[in-house]
Amino acid sequence: MPSYVVTGVSSGLGFEILRQVSGNPNNTVIGLVRNKPSTEKKVAEELGDRPNVHILSIADISSPEDLERAAAATVAITGGALDFLIANAGYVTTFDAFDPIGVLAENPHELHEDFQKCMNVNVIGNIYLYNAFMPLVLKGEVKKVVAVSSGMADIEICRDYDIYTGAVYACSKAAMNVVTAKYSAQYKKDGVLFLSICPGTVDVGKIQSNRLTQRQVAEYATLFGKFQQYQPNFKGPVAPEQAVKDVISVWENASLENGDGGAFLSHLGNKQWL
Ligand SMILES: NC(=O)c1ccc[n+]([C@@H]2O[C@H](COP(=O)([O-])OP(=O)(O)OC[C@H]3O[C@@H](n4cnc5c(N)ncnc54)[C@H](OP(=O)(O)O)[C@@H]3O)[C@@H](O)[C@H]2O)c1
Repeated sequence: MPSYVVTGVSSGLGFEILRQVSGNPNNTVIGLVRNKPSTEKKVAEELGDRPNVHILSIADISSPEDLERAAAATVAITGGALDFLIANAGYVTTFDAFDPIGVLAENPHELHEDFQKCMNVNVIGNIYLYNAFMPLVLKGEVKKVVAVSSGMADIEICRDYDIYTGAVYACSKAAMNVVTAKYSAQYKKDGVLFLSICPGTVDVGKIQSNRLTQRQVAEYATLFGKFQQYQPNFKGPVAPEQAVKDVISVWENASLENGDGGAFLSHLGNKQWL
């Protein structure tokens, strides 16, 4: 009866992780969200009655008290242990989507505010999450903790292909990769596998192309052109279904024995980001 806690299951990749994992009735899946009623409605409408799905409410991933409460509620559901902790919730900022860092810094207050929000949600919130759930993970049989990361945080692709957009978001994901490696360094001796996994480029329905300016369309075209140079087979973002299948296969195949503790891997289980 493997148990999973997944954050951010209201939409996108998180909902798809919930859908795929809870498709096996032997799995217990606990989703943490800010909007419990609308998520429960979506689960009921799209997945029907799945008694192995539990939705817990948190005010925000950056609230340590809420995460402690969610961990206590999880104990009541699983009996005290947790097999998989999936840190999926993330703030995907658009502040940095179309400009290089030097241009963003021309608005220092806005830059500061957005950077701080990215760090609060994508890094510090996940530290609180890891800490709140560690006692449960240590009692679990599988002991796997996964951060949903991004290849945008890879320094090599950034410098080899001059990928200048997404700087703030990428910094937060890079910091989270280090946090995850540090937790690995602390807990490897206890048999816990920590991993950062990039799902690839995934269409979660958030970009409304009819709302983009010409300049924004041109920036996306530039970025996708660079992605194509990096990976000539790149055809654009994939569906969440495929991305989540890939990510699950990476976390299933990864192990401390194979030396994966604290690694930052792509959806292919290596350093090929697209
Ligand atoms: N899509 C991609 O191409 C891609 C690529 C690489 C990595 N990722 C990562 O994948 C993860 C999921 O993103 P997505 O693409 O599926 O986007 P998404 O549909 O926008 O999902 C983001 C999820 O995070 C939750 N969330 C955001 N801020 C939060 C906060 N402060 N506290 C609690 N929950 C919060 C959202 O909940 P609400 O509904 O309450 O806002 C939502 O459930 C993120 O970590 C993202 O960085 C995505």
